Amino acid sequence: MRFDIITIFPRLFDSVLSAGVLGKALEKGLVEVSVHDLRDFTEDRHRQVDDRPFGGKPGMVLKPEPIFAAVEKVREDTNVSVCLLSPQGRRFDFRVAEELARMSQIILICGRYEGVDERVNRYLATDEISIGDYVLSGGEPAALVIIDAVSRLIPNVIGKTESVKHESFFEGLYDYPQYTRPRDFRGMQVPEVLFSGDHEKIARWRRKKSFEKTTQFRMDLLEERNLSPADLKMLDEIHRKKEGKTDESD
Ligand SMILES: C[S@@+](CC[C@H](N)C(=O)[O-])C[C@H]1O[C@@H](n2cnc3c(N)ncnc32)[C@H](O)[C@@H]1O
Repeated sequence: MRFDIITIFPRLFDSVLSAGVLGKALEKGLVEVSVHDLRDFTEDRHRQVDDRPFGGKPGMVLKPEPIFAAVEKVREDTNVSVCLLSPQGRRFDFRVAEELARMSQIILICGRYEGVDERVNRYLATDEISIGDYVLSGGEPAALVIIDAVSRLIPNVIGKTESVKHESFFEGLYDYPQYTRPRDFRGMQVPEVLFSGDHEKIARWRRKKSFEKTTQFRMDLLEERNLSPADLKMLDEIHRKKEGKTDESD
């Protein structure tokens, strides 16, 4: 899997790409990231990447020529996503990350200022992605979010012990709550069940906690799932507890 980032601020990526899980994946060659300075693809003396918008409006817009030149230089032959980062694109989530993880190259075009000349979107990009309903000053944080989330899905990037299968969204569920030492922190106790030694009971408790939190904040995730009879029973128990029809606690 190879990522190519096209940006006017290439140095922004230095420290983030060398740390943690992503840093290790790069070191092991499981993932490759190349950062390209958009100014290297200009042909004028001033290395100009932006210009005023036609039709009049304050601010500057990134010009199409250097972006087309950069993408044409780095693009490989097949299985490539040329992705324009934009607040107007389709929303990035776990499913989009899974889709992108099947590509062999992802080119991320980072906009700045008022945005990017629309011809990039219409004639060059194959995808337009937003990381959420808010406006960032540039596409660079969005590029990092996508690289991080997609890389975690590449085989061997995450070790067996941290398996992505247990993480939030994999099964359309939030992850269960985690606790570590000390058992008693300022009177705040770790749930007893985690010391029971009964693996089945612990697994059931964790699943129930996942369901509880998912129903609290993201019922839509559960609605997309095919629930097993055991899951439906658990969901029923959670609803009954909410309605006060049961006194079952942690
Ligand atoms: C200040 S924004 C431009 C916003 C644009 N004028 C608009 O209102 O839709 C500059 C650049 O930041 C990036 N950006 C901003 N918000 C983003 C988001 N939510 N997701 C992905 N990229 C974003 C895009 O690359 C965009 O071209």
